Amino acid sequence: MILILLGPPGAGKGTYSQRLIEAYKIPQISTGEILRTSVKNGTEMGTKAKGYMDKGLLVPDEIIVGIVSERIKDADCKNGFLLDGFPRTVEQANALGLIFEKSKLKLDSVINIIVKEDVLFKRLTGRRMCKVCGGNYNIYTLPSKVEGVCDKCEGALYQREDDKPETIERRLKVYAEQTAPLINYYKDKNILHDVVASEGSIEEIVEKIKTIIGK
Ligand code: AP5
Repeated sequence: MILILLGPPGAGKGTYSQRLIEAYKIPQISTGEILRTSVKNGTEMGTKAKGYMDKGLLVPDEIIVGIVSERIKDADCKNGFLLDGFPRTVEQANALGLIFEKSKLKLDSVINIIVKEDVLFKRLTGRRMCKVCGGNYNIYTLPSKVEGVCDKCEGALYQREDDKPETIERRLKVYAEQTAPLINYYKDKNILHDVVASEGSIEEIVEKIKTIIGK
């Protein structure tokens, strides 16, 4: 099964992906996570990407397409994968289409997560991540048991550099301008499914997605 989770920053793509990959036994390919790991490791790609990410801008298409085209060749992708945060521009979607055509892969569903802007803002300003395992918490909706400490590995929690209010505003604008056109792009291919997710628990939203893609 090959899935794309599409949605604005803070829609819950990472959160729902984590639960979906457990249920469907496929890997999550999060371009945001891959880039953050490269930044942390100080690689050449990470150094290039950091400037864009900290400003809330998209990293150039050629870097991102290169990352994804290599990653999906890995053995763990042989039964499918879930793309979280990719594609994000029409150019990336076209490149992905070509990769699928060449590799004879079929995209099954694109889940379009719809969340009101005020809810996105609260989710992003409240988000805290674990420095060690990448665990995702929220001071408003999903707090850790001990403040500032990861429940799973006891790593320190931190706020992402791009979760500052002024950067969030830019990311939402970039989404509207560069990524939202993908909604019609995939609607025209008859594989887009809307999931309204402004309200409801994480588990309820995951159930909605599972109902669409089939349990
Ligand atoms: P990326 O990491 O992909 O960021 P994003 O798309 O902005 O998405 P987020 O990770 O902010 O949000 P999310 O939808 O995953 O929400 P989450 O599950 O955390 O990308 C970062 C940067 O990398 C980009 O800005 C860009 O520079 C670069 N980049 C990445 N991919 C790229 C690409 N393809 N092309 C070019 N550049 C690229 O949820 C948010 C919070 O809400 C959490 O705290 C969660 O607990 C909470 N929450 C979620 N759902 C619920 C719910 N139902 N109820 C209560 N709380 C909830």
